[in-house]
Amino acid sequence: MARIELSRHMPLVTLIVLVLCTTPPIFASTHCDFPAIFSFGASNVDTGGLAAAFRAPPSPYGQTYFNRSTGRFSDGRIIIDFIAQSFRLPYPSPYLNSLGSNFTHGANFATAGSTINIPTSILPKGILSPFSLQIQYIQFKDFISKTKLIRDQGGVFATLVPKEDYFSKALYVFDIGQNDLTIGFFGNKTIQQVNATVPDLVNNYIENIKNIYNLGARSFWIHSTGPKGCAPVILANFPSAIKDSYGCAKQYNEVSQYFNLKLKEALAQLRSDLPLAAITYVDIYSPKYSLFTNPKKYGFELPYVACCGYGGEYNIGAGCGATINVNGTKIVAGSCKNPSTRITWDGTHYTEAANKIVFDQISTGAFNDPPISLDMACYRK
Ligand SMILES: *[C@@H]1O[C@H](CO)[C@@H](O)[C@H](O)[C@H]1NC(C)=O
Ligand SMILES: *[C@@H]1O[C@H](CO)[C@@H](O)[C@H](O)[C@H]1NC(C)=O
Ligand SMILES: *[C@@H]1O[C@H](CO)[C@@H](O)[C@H](O)[C@H]1NC(C)=O
Ligand SMILES: *[C@@H]1O[C@H](CO)[C@@H](O)[C@H](O)[C@H]1NC(C)=O
Ligand SMILES: *[C@@H]1O[C@H](CO)[C@@H](O)[C@H](O)[C@H]1NC(C)=O
Repeated sequence: MARIELSRHMPLVTLIVLVLCTTPPIFASTHCDFPAIFSFGASNVDTGGLAAAFRAPPSPYGQTYFNRSTGRFSDGRIIIDFIAQSFRLPYPSPYLNSLGSNFTHGANFATAGSTINIPTSILPKGILSPFSLQIQYIQFKDFISKTKLIRDQGGVFATLVPKEDYFSKALYVFDIGQNDLTIGFFGNKTIQQVNATVPDLVNNYIENIKNIYNLGARSFWIHSTGPKGCAPVILANFPSAIKDSYGCAKQYNEVSQYFNLKLKEALAQLRSDLPLAAITYVDIYSPKYSLFTNPKKYGFELPYVACCGYGGEYNIGAGCGATINVNGTKIVAGSCKNPSTRITWDGTHYTEAANKIVFDQISTGAFNDPPISLDMACYRK
């Protein structure tokens, strides 16, 4: 039976082979087969790192997809989850998570609240993650040497770590910088003073990328920073900010744009300095901004109103999941009815619905420099 099936399909197979052989070799390079993902950054790519070190954000975080708070700062999946899923890899385990993690297909060093520069105010007393980019690099370095020891020992623990050659074949995802800018805005710096910190920030960013390259990383997928001036948390806290024609705080967005410009330039330089690296600058600003300028097109309403929270024009008078006292009654600042119709989940972070749309757009490569799609991110051109 099987043999008959095979011979019946023979002409078709032959035809396909013929077509392939006569087509010019424009599809010469095959899609990248990343066996692992390593990621670095802050909340946009944190799958539970900060939660492992401190505590998970409260319910209803995670309600849409996981039905529990996983430590992600969203109602559901975030962009790094969609990246992993597109390569049929599991959602990346946080490096800091000691329970139930399996690092065979990578590890996630990102934690919400992380900065490029050394943080001056850290949790639990302050507001930022102690795991800044340089610490994440040190953790990664340690991860490589420890997993080698474990692999050499064999046994069950060896089934929980990446194979040696995965480190050079993996995709390295970065998404960091927004907190460095945000703490500047919330400190007593002027917009111009925050803007002036950008070149130094980008230099520190590039130093860490180089260090990670020197440990064997080759394929880099580096997100730019989003339009911070469209975030409810900025709009609510800086009510006198000048708005653009869509209602985003113009100068705050200009600082994000300047950061992105400097990052893009620095990565172009790095690409020529490191001939073995495939470095893709991923413009995440444009697809995120387009959500705010054309919400209806994507099925969104109330673009500047957080889905989860309580009170005020932007619904962030109380934070998502906080228990508050309203007229003598305790209530939880909960979720809107349908998070899939909102861009922003908690006033800072995006909903799963918004993350999915942004993922779909960045993965095509149309916004990238060079314009390389996600599944070709192991190639230089
Ligand atoms: C979601 O979680 C709640 C509370 O833990 C539980 O009662 C409910 O059955 C869960 N729903 C699904 C679909 O798993
Ligand atoms: C970890 O994941 C890998 C790949 O999915 C699997 O082969 C391995 O058995 C897992 N390890 C354990 C202890 O479950
Ligand atoms: C903020 O203002 C205080 C008091 O004027 C000053 O001591 C401090 O250096 C300022 N901080 C920043 C980040 O400019
Ligand atoms: C930030 O600095 C750059 C370079 O000096 C300048 O071109 C840009 O206008 C500045 N942006 C803001 C918002 O100050
Ligand atoms: C709380 O009380 C004020 C004044 O009586 C009223 O206007 C408001 O609607 C009440 N809020 C809620 C959530 O019931």
